[in-house]
Amino acid sequence: MDTLLSNMEFHQTVPEQFVLPPENRVAGEINASVSLPVIDLRGGPHCHVPDRDELIREVLRAGKEFGFFQVINHGVSEQLMKDIMGVTEEFFNMPKEDKAAFYSEDASKTNRLFSSTIYGKDGPRYWRDCLKLACYPVPETINEWPNKPTKFREVLAKFIVEAREVSMMLLSLICEGLGLKEGYFEGDVSSGQVLINANYYPPCPKPDLTLGLPPHCDRNLITLLLQGDVSGLQIMHQGRWVGAAPIPNAFVVNFGHQLEIITNGILKSVEHRAVTNSGAARMSMAVFIMPTMESFISPAKELTNEENPPLYKSFLFKDFLRIYTDLSAKRVDVMEAFKINV
Ligand code: OGA
Ligand code: NI
Repeated sequence: MDTLLSNMEFHQTVPEQFVLPPENRVAGEINASVSLPVIDLRGGPHCHVPDRDELIREVLRAGKEFGFFQVINHGVSEQLMKDIMGVTEEFFNMPKEDKAAFYSEDASKTNRLFSSTIYGKDGPRYWRDCLKLACYPVPETINEWPNKPTKFREVLAKFIVEAREVSMMLLSLICEGLGLKEGYFEGDVSSGQVLINANYYPPCPKPDLTLGLPPHCDRNLITLLLQGDVSGLQIMHQGRWVGAAPIPNAFVVNFGHQLEIITNGILKSVEHRAVTNSGAARMSMAVFIMPTMESFISPAKELTNEENPPLYKSFLFKDFLRIYTDLSAKRVDVMEAFKINV
């Protein structure tokens, strides 16, 4: 509890546990000549899209080239985007007594507030506080969410339903674009938990010594990320880090490991990390669409044949999660564990 970064005075130095070994630090320039594609979702899931084929092409192009893109005009109102960031900021700004009930260092707990994650045994700490919550279906989960600030539950309930609908719209475009059978992404594979990570990265006196989050790929199917106006998210693209510049009210979209495996590598789960800065606190809200625990994941039959054999193994999602955690979320190791060596 005393380790919550959001309840500390500004650090003058970086405490030793947060100092990364030199090879893991933010090194070299980011590739500033590349930016993430921005896709206009034509009003979002409740709008008629007259040029659906063109939109599908845009999503697949961005998905194949970057595995990461931003979406605007996605149907979630500016007010709701403002409100969700507002209540999250209020949450992190509360005195620590008000957060105590949520604080837990037990990583097996779904709903919890924690700080400075360590991956693996004795690893360095990361410069981030995180509130993690299971949010779906709302009536089954809402009573476990913080009830302070007062509006927190009401705003999150509204936000999560709409954010999930945007994710489902994207999945439906991908489904059609790849020629998968209709509704491929509507069953078990997307109807597990919807988790959120509300991330808080306080200013850091020496950003070159630490990271907010180490390079990782997400474990789920598809992720939407809402970030405020402070930059910090970086994406691996053609061997170099590229910044995801904040665009007001946009969602950053990326694919989790499950989408890479189901599409047999047509869409990639791309490594990303969060860097810190010395000037301003940064907040982000990640929404993770998860398969059910018993969901059977395998490369889609429609996308494999003799010339394109399955590149990945088949498994139950719960078994994937266990291995992902054991391997500290490192892409090369996770992919190695699930790859078929053809
Ligand atoms: C995550 C994540 C990035 C960010 O929570 O998995 O990648 O910018 N967050 O906070
Ligand atoms: Ni992530």
